[in-house]
Amino acid sequence: MEQSLWDAKQAIRKEVLEKRKTIDLWQKKGWDEKIAAAVMAHPLYMSASTVMLYMAMPHEISVDLLVDDSISAGKKVGLPRVNRQTKRLHVHHFAKDDQLIAGVFGIREPDAGSPEMRLSEFDLLIMPGLAFGENGERIGYGGGYYDRLIHHQESRPFLLAVAYDWQVYPKLPVTPEDQRIDGVVTPTKVISF
Ligand SMILES: Nc1ncnc2c1ncn2[C@@H]1O[C@H](COP(=O)(O)OP(=O)(O)OP(=O)(O)O)[C@@H](O)[C@H]1O
Ligand SMILES: [Mg+2]
Repeated sequence: MEQSLWDAKQAIRKEVLEKRKTIDLWQKKGWDEKIAAAVMAHPLYMSASTVMLYMAMPHEISVDLLVDDSISAGKKVGLPRVNRQTKRLHVHHFAKDDQLIAGVFGIREPDAGSPEMRLSEFDLLIMPGLAFGENGERIGYGGGYYDRLIHHQESRPFLLAVAYDWQVYPKLPVTPEDQRIDGVVTPTKVISF
């Protein structure tokens, strides 16, 4: 990746990470609940039988309400396991009453023994990230994990990001490997690209 592009992405990551640290926890809880409610009302979520979700890192948007809702609605839920050596995400089935274990980056993960799922099995992928552009651009933490997961997949789920309103930018720097998302849900709006 070109140095200037990397620097431009880093500057945005820094801005978002700093802002995130200042959020009041009650405010965050309210925003996370609004985002979860908006996703639950989204037609693609309602019709999805298989959903990939994630377990939040500290300060990140929690989608735990969506994990619970999906499982109680009978949807099949997949959660990522991070392999730091290969820089890849492996998606594992997470069923009712399964335990989560502590993984890398302080992220809770399904057990390695739970069945692995293919990306093509999912109808919907709820994506975390740091910044999103109005043309479907996404900037994550800089590992390229989600880009690698989605790259070269002939059949991919609808990519729906979750973000606070201030994480949506008019325009963002992207590289050819960056996978564009299909929509973003914030506490106040649902944007489709
Ligand atoms: N499909 C891919 N194959 C190999 N390397 C990739 C692929 N996608 C991205 N990368 C590399 O991963 C590194 C980080 O990419 P990028 O800056 O886009 O991270 P990110 O999208 O913010 O991270 P993440 O998805 O983990 O939140 C870059 O060096 C990029 O070239
Ligand atoms: Mg990327």
